[in-house]
Amino acid sequence: MNNKTLMDNLRCIPDFPQKGINFRDVTTLFKSPECLNIMVDELYEMYKNKGITKIVGIESRGFVLSSALAVRLGAGVVLCRKPGKLPAETVKENYTKEYGSDTIEIHKDAISSEDVVLLHDDLLATGGTMRAAYNLVKKFNPKEILVNFIIEITDEGLHGRDAFEKDTEVTTLITV
Ligand code: PRP
Ligand code: MG
Repeated sequence: MNNKTLMDNLRCIPDFPQKGINFRDVTTLFKSPECLNIMVDELYEMYKNKGITKIVGIESRGFVLSSALAVRLGAGVVLCRKPGKLPAETVKENYTKEYGSDTIEIHKDAISSEDVVLLHDDLLATGGTMRAAYNLVKKFNPKEILVNFIIEITDEGLHGRDAFEKDTEVTTLITV
C-alpha cells in the first residue's frame, strides 16, 4: 500500500537506539492530522466488514490508533499492558526478547469467546511482542484473531511475519 503522504511523513532516525538501526519514528505520523486520517481511513476500509468487536492495543504506541479505529468500527478497546499496570485480575504471557524477557497482561474479563479480536500495534520488528499478545488473546478463545501493524520492517534482516502461522491474517499499512 505505502501511501506517499505516510511515507513522506515517517521520520527515520539513523543509528538509534544503537549503531546500524534505522529507527522508524511513528510519532511523526501521529502528530499529523492528515496522516491520522489516512491511516484510520485505510484501516477502516480493511476491517469494516470483518465483524471486529474488540481491538486490543499494545502498550504504548499501539494505543493511539486502536481507539480511533474502534470508534469508527463500533468496537471496544482492550489494553494489553506491561506488567503491574492493570488494577484488576489479569491473564499474563511471558516472552523472550533479544536481551532478557518480559511479560504482558490483559484484564481477565476483557475478552469473551463471542469476540472477534483485532490486535494492533505500531510496528512489526522481530514479532516477539505481538506473538506474545497473540498467545495471550488465544487463551480467551475468541471467535477469531486478526493482526495489524502500521509499519512492517523487512529491510534489516527481520522476518517478523514468520512469528505467525500462515493462516493468521497479518496486515500492515507501510512496508519498509
Ligand atoms: C516497540 C514497538 C512494538 C515493538 C516491536 O515497542 O512499538 O511494540 O517494540 O518490536 P518486536 O516486533 O521486535 O517485538 P516498545 O517495546 O519499544 O515500547 P513502546 O511502544 O511503549 O514504546
Ligand atoms: Mg510498542
